[in-house]
Amino acid sequence: IPVDSFDLVIFGGTGDLARRKILPGLFRRFRSGQMPEDARIIGAARAEMDDEGYRQLIADAVEEFGGEEKADAEGLKQFLGRLHYVPIDAKGDGGWPELAALMRDGVIRAFYFSVGPSLFGDLAERLHTHSIADEQSRIVVEKPFGRDLASAQQLNADLAAHFGEHQIYRIDHYLGKETVQNLMAVRFGNVLFEPLWNSHYVDHIQITVAETVGVGGRGSYYDQSGAMRDMVQNHLMQLLCLIAMEPPAQYDADRVRDEKLKVIRALQPLQPHQVVRGQYDAAGGDPSYRDDVENPRSHTESFIALKTHIANWRWAGVPFYLRTGKRLKARTSEIAVVFKDLGHTIFEGDTARHRNILAIRLQPNEGMDLQVTIKEPGPGGMRLVDVPLDMTFADALGPDQEQVPDAYERLIMDVIRGNQTLFMRGDEVEAAWAWTDPIIAGWEARHDVPKTYDPDTQGPEDAMMLMHRDGRRWREIR
Ligand code: BG6
Repeated sequence: IPVDSFDLVIFGGTGDLARRKILPGLFRRFRSGQMPEDARIIGAARAEMDDEGYRQLIADAVEEFGGEEKADAEGLKQFLGRLHYVPIDAKGDGGWPELAALMRDGVIRAFYFSVGPSLFGDLAERLHTHSIADEQSRIVVEKPFGRDLASAQQLNADLAAHFGEHQIYRIDHYLGKETVQNLMAVRFGNVLFEPLWNSHYVDHIQITVAETVGVGGRGSYYDQSGAMRDMVQNHLMQLLCLIAMEPPAQYDADRVRDEKLKVIRALQPLQPHQVVRGQYDAAGGDPSYRDDVENPRSHTESFIALKTHIANWRWAGVPFYLRTGKRLKARTSEIAVVFKDLGHTIFEGDTARHRNILAIRLQPNEGMDLQVTIKEPGPGGMRLVDVPLDMTFADALGPDQEQVPDAYERLIMDVIRGNQTLFMRGDEVEAAWAWTDPIIAGWEARHDVPKTYDPDTQGPEDAMMLMHRDGRRWREIR
């Protein structure tokens, strides 16, 4: 279904994110027929360039970063025809009158701030003073949304000076992932799970976002940030919120976000012994973290594992274990809800521990599996085995289904539709920083040194211990 017509301005339109994700994603939406005939995309950045130069830049980006859609030469030509470019000075007046003259009336105006947060305030102000944005306009901002509570509050204030909260779309691309939304469908669209979704039946929950890549190429950003700021404060906390929140009265933006906010506010403060930080070592000719960031004394973490509790009725006493890291054994992200053991077994001689586990796989191989216990087939008597009830979405949907849209494509279309459900509200972001700030400040004050770990592993030994101490274990990253 096509969305309403729009003019989408991408500040930072020549940058890495625009070339890698935003424009190839928009091309896919264009091909699927979701972009209306006359919708336009206007790149805006510092470089001097004309429309033709920009079209060439994006054609090259689609060639480099696009998927199978790049074979569609005719479609690409038409898509490129929708692109325009305006050189702009974010901190001065250059280019703004030209941009104002280009914008059409009667269509949705959306502005994507694909730039560092230090420019958010400048852009918001100039959109206002040059009368480019109106009441219907939307702005989209990227992470990192600040680096602590104070800077996030400042950014929120800078944006709020010119835009209402209903116009601000703070992207967390994890919320655009197919399985993440499915999490809500599974919880609130089935009778099976919700009655069990509490401390009576759930032993603990594990959230893992493991990556095989290092931080090479992004060292200067990453070394100032680390896994806590780069991944936990946003992506992992958002997953935690969705898994733990109370059912919203309705699936609409503010009701969902109200419930997520309550989860963050109920998180117990993190104690140092509940957190393990790691940093990857060199191996087999591959550089170490410190080589990658060119900082031989860096104390920034490329891995983090933590244990937390949500202090409310539903989750009293249930630990939530979160971990994420670079250069690990495999690229895999999943949420596992591990249910409690049966209180009593009727199968004599069966001493194994059987547990139901609902594993929600974010990537790769998106889907879910539910570990259930059955009788081992064959004549061997009543011997029990655990098997997965596997639902891989690609199998379930069949080969003819339209390719699952990438997180960015989906989220940009939500902006045009005016749907904020999958975007973070200002108070959520601030509450998340309020939770991570004290622990980060503690490391900085103590000059805490992360444990080193070998690449291509499960992470530092201490992360294993974090669970073993509680008589539990992480699911294997593989
Ligand atoms: C980004 C982080 O937000 O998410 C990166 O800045 C990380 O460090 C990336 O690699 C992971 O995203 P995905 O979609 O590849 O899991």
